[in-house]
Amino acid sequence: MTEPELRALLCELAASLFARGFSVGSAGNISARLPDGFLMTPTNSCLGRLDPARLSRLGADFAHLSGDRPSKEVFMHRAFYQARGPACGAVVHLHSTHATAIACLADAGPQSPIPPLTPYFVMRAGRTVPLVPYYRPGDAAMEPAIAEAARGAKAVLLANHGPVVCGASLADAVYAAEELEEAARLALLLRGVPTRTLTPAQIDDLLQTFG
Ligand code: 13P
Repeated sequence: MTEPELRALLCELAASLFARGFSVGSAGNISARLPDGFLMTPTNSCLGRLDPARLSRLGADFAHLSGDRPSKEVFMHRAFYQARGPACGAVVHLHSTHATAIACLADAGPQSPIPPLTPYFVMRAGRTVPLVPYYRPGDAAMEPAIAEAARGAKAVLLANHGPVVCGASLADAVYAAEELEEAARLALLLRGVPTRTLTPAQIDDLLQTFG
């Protein structure tokens, strides 16, 4: 995909997330890898009305090269790219309602507070979605904590803040963010109701089959 195509796709997918309520106001940020750097949503921008020409252009070292000033969460995105290497082609951070609600639960454990109820959650978000302790938005101190969690997971929940997910491509990362939000919604709908979660063997089978 050329850079103009990636710019257009990023704005199209961001607008779709916004239109469906996965993001409100100026919440959320998205980045995608280019051969020699990254595209990133500008800080304080609304995902519903991004301008492809004004996206932030970062170098391979994450320095701002052109476009509007990048998201204050550049550390969060960098943690994923550096922890997961070339397999990470894009990162999506949202404050989507149900995933954020789970990240606020007093009894949410650090391991994987969203239960593996459905195949597509596991296929898109992976075996575990750990909870990373709370940091102020934009706090560079979050980077090592996210990097550590991201070494073993394609997605994390930030306590009292929201999800961060990565994918091999921009579309993959967006699909993972959507599946994570739906899984969180199901988990809250079923809170207190006896449920069947997928078994470890079923999860292994999914990951072996769909990678
Ligand atoms: P930015 O507007 O700087 O991207 O921050 C939005 C956000 O979601 C903070 O977590």
